[in-house]
Amino acid sequence: MLEIEKYQKAFIDYLENYSITKEPENLYEPIAYILRLGGKRLRPVLTLMTADIFGKDYRKALDAALSIEVFHNFSLVHDDIMDDAPLRRGKQTVHERWDTNTAILSGDAMLIIAYQLFENYDATIFQALAKLFSKTALEVCEGQQYDVDFETRSDVSIPEYLKMIEYKTAVLVAAAMKMGAIVAHATESDQNDIYEFGRYLGIAFQLQDDYLDAFGNPETFGKQVGGDIIENKKTYLYLKALEVLNASEKKRLTDLFLSNPTETEQKVETVKQLFVASGADEATKKAIQAYTQKAFVTLEGLNIPEDKKRLLKAFGSALMNRDV
Ligand code: IPE
Ligand code: IPE
Ligand code: MG
Ligand code: MG
Ligand code: MG
Repeated sequence: MLEIEKYQKAFIDYLENYSITKEPENLYEPIAYILRLGGKRLRPVLTLMTADIFGKDYRKALDAALSIEVFHNFSLVHDDIMDDAPLRRGKQTVHERWDTNTAILSGDAMLIIAYQLFENYDATIFQALAKLFSKTALEVCEGQQYDVDFETRSDVSIPEYLKMIEYKTAVLVAAAMKMGAIVAHATESDQNDIYEFGRYLGIAFQLQDDYLDAFGNPETFGKQVGGDIIENKKTYLYLKALEVLNASEKKRLTDLFLSNPTETEQKVETVKQLFVASGADEATKKAIQAYTQKAFVTLEGLNIPEDKKRLLKAFGSALMNRDV
């Protein structure tokens, strides 16, 4: 995993030297706060790695990588308002530490900064990056709206869920990789193949996020465990459980997802028991593996050396076994 650490370090150095703090403080401080809270830096690492894989000095992709990470953090600031989340990366969320209005405006500014970073590229690359970015950012909004709409719907299907997570999460992972390929002047066919790899990996990643939201270790997960259950999120765990539970258990589960009880601890415990009893936990793990495998299949047609394919596979496998 040495190579991955190299990209991570280069990215963090670049971020630390990027000056965020200006006036007014209440606009820029929350931006510096969320960006410096850490996180896995998955997407920028993928941008740098992809540029490298297609034969470009990965440092040329640092602005694209930063843009993706700033956009990702913007989406988290607004997502945490929408999901009423108290914790992010083991610390208070921006709207909890400041307030909702601050989180809205700092988030807006981050979206603009993300675009601004493309100005560091010449016209052809700028245009390709901006075009991909606009399409992706709009899809993320669509995915986020489906996610919220599903909270109050009781007839969500698994294909609908898969489309929702593709939009809210997977397309950004895919775009992070395609941006690395764009900076590296990879062929269109390679750009599209690497996008597909990222898309499948992103679906596996969100399935894993849903799994960890229920079954992660509260000491290390960094977010409120059970948050999706409290918010009545129609996750893969929930939809799979409904498929196999008997009528009375099914009613218990759906009743718990109709309301927002004040006794959330009891709700989370009962729902988790139903997820386990129905085998939905194992079904989710299988789906994570299946989508990771689909990602690996897309690598076959790619015009890159075998050792680079191995690097991408190692990254995908490590992601599947993560606990944060
Ligand atoms: C969280 O993303 C939001 C999802 C799309 C699941 P990450 O799990 O990549 O968050 P950080 O950046 O590592 O904190
Ligand atoms: C987040 O999905 C997707 C985006 C932020 C666009 P989640 O709501 O599951 O992410 P977490 O679990 O809060 O990180
Ligand atoms: Mg959330
Ligand atoms: Mg959300
Ligand atoms: Mg989540």
